[in-house]
Amino acid sequence: MTDTLLILPGDGIGPEVMAEVSRIIDWFGDKRGLKFDVSEDLVGGAAYDVHGVPLADATMAKAQEVDAVLLGAVGGPKYDNLDFSVKPERGLLRLRKEMDLFANLRPAQCFDALADFSSLKRDVVAGLDIMIVRELTSGIYFGEPRGIIEENGERVGINTQRYTESEIDRVARSAFELARKRGNKVCSMEKANVMESGILWREVVQRVHDADYPDVELSHMYADAGGMQLCRWPKQFDVIVTDNLFGDLLSDVAAMLTGSLGMLPSASLGAPMANGRPKALYEPVHGSAPDIAGQGKANPIACILSFAMALRYSFDQGDEATRLEKAVEKVLADGVRTADLMQAEGGTPVTTAGMGDAILAALEASL
Ligand code: NAD
Ligand code: IPM
Ligand code: MN
Repeated sequence: MTDTLLILPGDGIGPEVMAEVSRIIDWFGDKRGLKFDVSEDLVGGAAYDVHGVPLADATMAKAQEVDAVLLGAVGGPKYDNLDFSVKPERGLLRLRKEMDLFANLRPAQCFDALADFSSLKRDVVAGLDIMIVRELTSGIYFGEPRGIIEENGERVGINTQRYTESEIDRVARSAFELARKRGNKVCSMEKANVMESGILWREVVQRVHDADYPDVELSHMYADAGGMQLCRWPKQFDVIVTDNLFGDLLSDVAAMLTGSLGMLPSASLGAPMANGRPKALYEPVHGSAPDIAGQGKANPIACILSFAMALRYSFDQGDEATRLEKAVEKVLADGVRTADLMQAEGGTPVTTAGMGDAILAALEASL
């Protein structure tokens, strides 16, 4: 049966970067025989405009059925004043929660050609290859009670950090499994010094390690110190496992090690489906970038590398994923740059489509 893909371009630069991914999907169909049954639907503000909700039930149902979902980005100023329950971001959170995509893989790799472009020194980032595993379906993003209540004549905003042992256990296993295929090291980050959920987190990660992954090197770090260490000497890390909120922050920090938020892909994986593949959604780490939307300036690489992750994690096409990653690497080595990858003084940037053209040409040259 043909593999199925649901594309949800979303808002802002989402549709712009996704257009380049679609061309690349077509290329793999034509030239590598990887045929996908692709359907497209709405998410975020785009869905709100049509359905009055950021994710229609029918779209949710489709997402549950396909082999993989590819998402662009959601959100934007047009939707900032909507009621919280229908904000674009709620559509994405619903997908993550209902598909139970508990392990969010956010690799941060510094391509050699961009090592001088990072805001950190070349030595600090050159050759960097780390993987942040962010818990994605629990923690303060979803904990109850939550809301804004009245108390003593003023309003109080409430969110609750909450983790069960089994939630920590399963994401820890994902991190250890990944580490075994990489540098065999896991650093777990929480704030066990001030949060009970952090104490439990540390305990469970250690327990899973001692019972089933004693061969993997495990360390623990407070998440604030982890942020500092990511900037000081990121190459000390291999896999970092952390909770939903800390993972959100730390992965944006890690983005700048690679030069631009426009470079970072992600895979959100759940439990295996009947066919043995994990439930999966692939999306760039960046958002809808309202400041550059509609101008053809967006860097499509994060979204393109997210498709490479889909080839690897959903479709068992590791070699084709590597082919795509190498094509991106070659284009960067050749000096092709979107505006986000240029210093103020340097050269003429290519457009979003220009970057797509260059990557397609590099793919063609790889045959
Ligand atoms: P953002 O990631 O959209 O943008 C931050 C900065 O990075 C901007 O200056 C932007 O121009 C730049 N940038 C981001 N992606 C880029 C790319 N591919 N190429 C070039 N430059 C790029 O974050 P924000 O401005 O904080 O948020 C804007 C909206 O996006 C908000 O509504 C937010 O909730 C939403 N958001 C969505 C997602 C998602 O859909 N997964 C992720 C983050 C933020
Ligand atoms: C991300 C984003 C999302 C998050 C928002 C848009 C819901 O920042 O994917 O990193 O906070 O998880
Ligand atoms: Mn984020």
